[in-house]
Order: sequence, then structure tokens, then C-alpha cells
Amino acid sequence: MSGFEASWLALRTPADARARSLELETALRDELRQALHAGFPHVRPWLAADLACGTGSNVVRLAPRLPGPQRWRLVDSDDALLRHARERCVGLVDAAGAPAHATVERADLAGPALEAACAGARLVTASALLDLVSAAWLDRLASACARAGAIALCVLDYDGRRSCAPADPDDAAAHAAFDAHQRRDKGFGPALGPDACVRAAAAFAARGYRVRRARSDWQLDAADAADAALQRELLRGWAAAAIEAVPGERGRFEGWLERRLAHVDAGRSVLLVGHEDLLAIPGGRDS
Ligand SMILES: C[S@@+](CC[C@H](N)C(=O)[O-])C[C@H]1O[C@@H](n2cnc3c(N)ncnc32)[C@H](O)[C@@H]1O
Repeated sequence: MSGFEASWLALRTPADARARSLELETALRDELRQALHAGFPHVRPWLAADLACGTGSNVVRLAPRLPGPQRWRLVDSDDALLRHARERCVGLVDAAGAPAHATVERADLAGPALEAACAGARLVTASALLDLVSAAWLDRLASACARAGAIALCVLDYDGRRSCAPADPDDAAAHAAFDAHQRRDKGFGPALGPDACVRAAAAFAARGYRVRRARSDWQLDAADAADAALQRELLRGWAAAAIEAVPGERGRFEGWLERRLAHVDAGRSVLLVGHEDLLAIPGGRDS
């Protein structure tokens, strides 16, 4: 168990799909097409690695948008999530509708499994992972990608921007406590939380990558039933994290949660959660 429930990942999948940067996906597809046309990599089908794949949403999204022939290596530490991922990858196809093979591996990516997962990959991708990791782990990721000559696509990482409407006097305190919690160790060393996107861009640029970043915010309107359900879970998680980070403010954050949930129930709550996507393309390569 990783603490991430399949039900939570299912709830966020539609908002993730709306938020992801189409511009970066298109740039990735074009880069891969060009490289394949130029005969790189020589190994076919080319390999993509999805780190911390959860239930496989990132692969299900990307495979049909990218050229084949392709195969996928999905890695996560949570057996229950991997079972869902395995099922969801049945019938996976590439952009031409040809089958894309997927293997699912259980591994702790905090350890040497990270380097093993990236080895031989033409694309290394991760969704909603980088804000959980440390600066040292990000450096290892960028080095492992550089060794493989892999393109990196990291999507949906929290960047510290958040807004709630209607406004509440305790929004700022809840936000600050949540961000403090975000920086706790999530198994990869002290987590970067909202600093992850900036640090990731620097880590790849330092290894000669061309880096592009784009916003991929969640914009959730409680007038929509699916967004309202996601908002409720998000706010509960946000309050729980805030209380864990600042236990002395329990009463304050419980009151804040109650008021925020009332706005959701009334269909008037609008939340923005700032995310970023990052595409890093290895430099100095002819393709
Ligand atoms: C926020 S979820 C994202 C899941 C999926 N990428 C998505 O976007 O739906 C974070 C994922 O990281 C995985 N994870 C956390 N710690 C891990 C570790 N040490 N090794 C491998 N996976 C880990 C969790 O099991 C979970 O699937």
C-alpha cells in the first residue's frame, strides 16, 4: 500500500485529462516521429517507462497519441494499483491502432529500481510524481534519463498555486499548512512539493536538455457533479494534511473544511490547483 487509493486516482483522472498540456504532448509526438524516422532508437519497438504509474492513467492517455511500434514498462510500489494498471493496459494501442505491449513491475523507485526502470527507455514519463520527491532523487532521475538518451515528460506536478472561491479568511492558513506538509518526506527524501517543477527544469537543463514547461491546472467547478466529488475529496485531504502539519490548529482547519464543503454542496465552490507539465528533450543528438 502506498497511501494512494485507486478510487482517488479514478476521481482525479477526468480533471487530469482536461488539464494536461496538449502543446507538450504534440511536441513529444513530433519529436518521437522525427527520431523514429531518422532511425533512433535502433531497437524496435521503442521503450517507454512510466514511473509511479498508479492505475495506469498516464499510459492509457499517452500510448494512443504516440507513434509505434512501442512497448511500455509500468513501475509502481503498490500491488493493488498495479492490478488495475495491468487490466487497463489490456488492448492498449499506439497512434496507428497497432497493439502496444505493456509490462507491469512492482518496485520501490526510491532505490536503484529508478535507474533500472529508465535503462533503455526512449521516453521516461511520470504523472503526479515529482512533487513527492527530493532534489537528490530528481538529480538521479535526470541523470538516468540522460544516460539512456531518453526524452522526459513529467506532468501534473503541484506548483504551489491554489485559489478557492468564495474566499474564506482561513484559506491562506490552510494553504500554508498544506504546503508545509507537502515538503515532508514521502519516501524519496525531503519532498520538493511546490518547488518540484522549477527544480526539475534545472536538473534537466544542467544535463543539456531543452526544457519546455506548461501549466496544467485543475479548474474545478462544483456546479459539475464530477468536479464536486473531486473537490470534496481534495478538501478533506487538504484539511487532514494541514492538521497533521499544524496539530495545534485542528479546530481552525476543521471549521475551514466545514465551510468549504458547504460551498461545494451549494454548487458555488470553484477551486484552482496549479500544476505544471514539463517536456525535456536531450540535446546534442542528431535526429
Ligand atoms: C499521486 S499518485 C500518481 C499515480 C499515477 N501516476 C497517476 O497520475 O494517476 C503517486 C504514485 O506514486 C506511487 N509511489 C509512491 N511511492 C513510491 C515508491 N517509493 N516507488 C514506486 N512508486 C511509488 C504510488 O503508489 C502512486 O501510484
